[in-house]
Amino acid sequence: MKSKLYSSAHVKTANKLFSKKDISWYNEQWTDSEINECKAIELKMFIDKPSLKTYPKPELIDQNRKPSELQLIANKYLSGYKTFLSIGCGLGETEMWFAKQHPNIVFTAIDNAPYVEGLNNVALDLGLTNITFIHSDLRTANLGKFDVVFSYAVIYCIPDDYLEGYFKQLCLHTSPNGLMLVGCSSNLFFLSKLKALIKPSRPTQLMKQTGWRRDVGHVRRYIPNYIHTEKTYHFNHFFNPSLPRFMCEFSKRYIPITNPSYMFVLRH
Ligand SMILES: C[S@@+](CC[C@H](N)C(=O)[O-])C[C@H]1O[C@@H](n2cnc3c(N)ncnc32)[C@H](O)[C@@H]1O
Repeated sequence: MKSKLYSSAHVKTANKLFSKKDISWYNEQWTDSEINECKAIELKMFIDKPSLKTYPKPELIDQNRKPSELQLIANKYLSGYKTFLSIGCGLGETEMWFAKQHPNIVFTAIDNAPYVEGLNNVALDLGLTNITFIHSDLRTANLGKFDVVFSYAVIYCIPDDYLEGYFKQLCLHTSPNGLMLVGCSSNLFFLSKLKALIKPSRPTQLMKQTGWRRDVGHVRRYIPNYIHTEKTYHFNHFFNPSLPRFMCEFSKRYIPITNPSYMFVLRH
C-alpha cells in the first residue's frame, strides 16, 4: 500500500485496527505503538523488502524532481560543514537529496518509525554512501555532536509536555559552532482552523495530532534563551502550483492560505 506515510498513521488504517475506540480518541495524541502499528501495515511491502523499487513514494526521490522550497532554503546553510543529523527524518527524501548535493558531509538520520533502517537500502540503490539511517527515539537519543542538526515537520508530533525536551535534544546534539534548522508546517492555515471550528468532532488528519493547531509563537517560546534565532523563514512547503501567483504572494505576506511552513535558523 502506497498511501499514508507521515508522522502519524492514516485514519483509514486506524479505523480498521482500532475500530472499537471512541470517536474522541482520534483527536488525542496517539501512542507511539498505535502510530507504528498503522505504519507497519501501510508500509509492509517496504518493510518486508526495502529497496528503491519498494520505496513507498518514488516521486519524492525522483532524480528529475524539482527540489522543494524547504530543500532549497536549508541547502544554502550546509556548505562548509562536515556532519549533519536529521531528527525525525520520515521517509528521508530530503536527507537523501542533501546527501547527493554534499558528498563531503557525513549524514545521519534518525526516526522511530518501523521502516527507517530500510532507507539504508534505498540510499545505497541511489549510490549514496555518505548517509546512514538509524532507528532511534528522539527523546532518548544521545548520538554525539553534529555541525548541523535538522528537524522538519516533527514539532507537530511532539506533545506539549515534551516540546521543551525536544528543543533541548536538538541543542544537545549541536556542536558549539554548529547550527540548527528546525521547522514545521504551520497551523496558521486559517481555512483548516475554520473547518475545525465548524466541525470540531470530525476526525480528520489535521485534528488527530496535538501539534497541528499550535502556532509559531507558541513553539518559539520553547527555544532555550541561550539560543539565538538568526532567521525565520516562511514558505509554502506544499506549494500548490494550481493556485494563482497573486494568491501565493497574498498568503506569504498577509493571511496564509496555502499551507504555509516555517523554518528557524538557530545558533548557540
Ligand atoms: C511528519 S513526519 C516528518 C518527516 C520528515 N522530516 C519530513 O519532513 O517529511 C514526522 C516524523 O517524526 C517522527 N517522530 C515522531 N516522534 C518521534 C520520536 N519520538 N522519535 C523519533 N522520531 C519521531 C515520525 O516517525 C515521523 O517520521
